[in-house]
Amino acid sequence: MKVFINKRIPEIGIQMLEEAGLEVVLPKNADLSHDEWLTYCKDSDVILNVGQNKYDEGFFEQFPNVKAIALFSVGFDSVDIEQANQRKIPIGNTPDVLSRATSDIAFLLMQSVARRASYYFEQVKSDLWGDFDPLHALGQELYGKTLGVFGLGRIGFEMAEKCKKAFDMNIIYHNRSHNEEAEKKLGAKYVSFDELVNQSDVLSVHANFTEEHSEIFDESVFKKMKSNSIFINTARGGFHNQKHLYNALVDKEIWGAGLDVTNPEPMMYDDPILKLSNVCVLPHIGSATIEARNGMAKVAAENIIAFSKGEKMPHCANPEVYK
Ligand code: DGY
Repeated sequence: MKVFINKRIPEIGIQMLEEAGLEVVLPKNADLSHDEWLTYCKDSDVILNVGQNKYDEGFFEQFPNVKAIALFSVGFDSVDIEQANQRKIPIGNTPDVLSRATSDIAFLLMQSVARRASYYFEQVKSDLWGDFDPLHALGQELYGKTLGVFGLGRIGFEMAEKCKKAFDMNIIYHNRSHNEEAEKKLGAKYVSFDELVNQSDVLSVHANFTEEHSEIFDESVFKKMKSNSIFINTARGGFHNQKHLYNALVDKEIWGAGLDVTNPEPMMYDDPILKLSNVCVLPHIGSATIEARNGMAKVAAENIIAFSKGEKMPHCANPEVYK
C-alpha cells in the first residue's frame, strides 16, 4: 500500500509506517506545486496530508485510487465529509495530542493582548523605551473576569481550565451540546450565542469550522461585545470577518484581539490590522511544539496502519463510514 506524505513530518510517524511494511512516498521538494501534488495523488492509495489541500467532490472523482486520507491536523474542514462518506473513504485526524499546545497559544494571545505585549515589544525595537509613565498604554488584569468559549471541546476545555486555574475566571460557553465535564469541573455555564457575546470579557473561539459558521463573528456581533473585551481565535480564520474585526478594534467596540488564524490565511504582511497596537497575530502555530507534532505524527501513522489492516482508524473524523 502506497502512502503519499506531502510534507516531511516528525520521523516517528514515517518510521511507524515503514515498520508496518507500508511504502512511504515523500517528495524531496518541501513545497510541491498544485500540479506536482496532483501527480503524487494519482499514484497513491492513502494520503497523509499536511496543510490545507482541498478534498472535495472533484478530487474524489479524479482520484478513485485514493482509499483513505489521514490528516495531520485535528480540523477537517478541508475535506467534504459528505463526499468522503458516499465513497466510504475514512478521514483520519489528530485530536487530543495538540489540545494543550493549541490552548497554550490561546492563553498566550489572551495575556499578550491584555498586557499589550506586542505594542511594548514594538516600542522597544523602535528605540522608544520611554520614561516610566503611570498612565501610558495600560493593560488590564484578567482575575475573576468572564471567559466565553465558543465551541467547548477538548481544546476549549483546556483553555477554560487554564483560565480558571490562573485567574479564577468565570467560564461560560456556547456549543452544539452541553459539556458536562466542564460544567462539573470548572463550573462552566451553557449560554446562548447572544449571551456569550454580551457577557464575555474574553471570547475565545475553539469550534470545528463549518460553512454554517462562516464569518459568524461579524460587525453585528462585535457591536454587541463589551468594550473591554478581547477576541481570541485559534480555531479557523473563517469564523471571523477580518475587515469587521479591524473596524471594531479601531472604533473601540472591543478592546483587543489575538489571532493564530486569519481571514484570509495567510494574511498579507501589510494588512492594516497588523498596525494596530491592541492586536497580536501569530501564523497558525497552535500545534507547533515538539510534543504536539510528534503526537500528531504518531496518531496519523496509527490511523493509516489501522486502515491498512482493514481496521477502523482510531481517530476518524467520519466514523459513519464504518456503519
Ligand atoms: C489543526 O490541527 O487543525 C491545526 O489547526 C492545523 O491545521
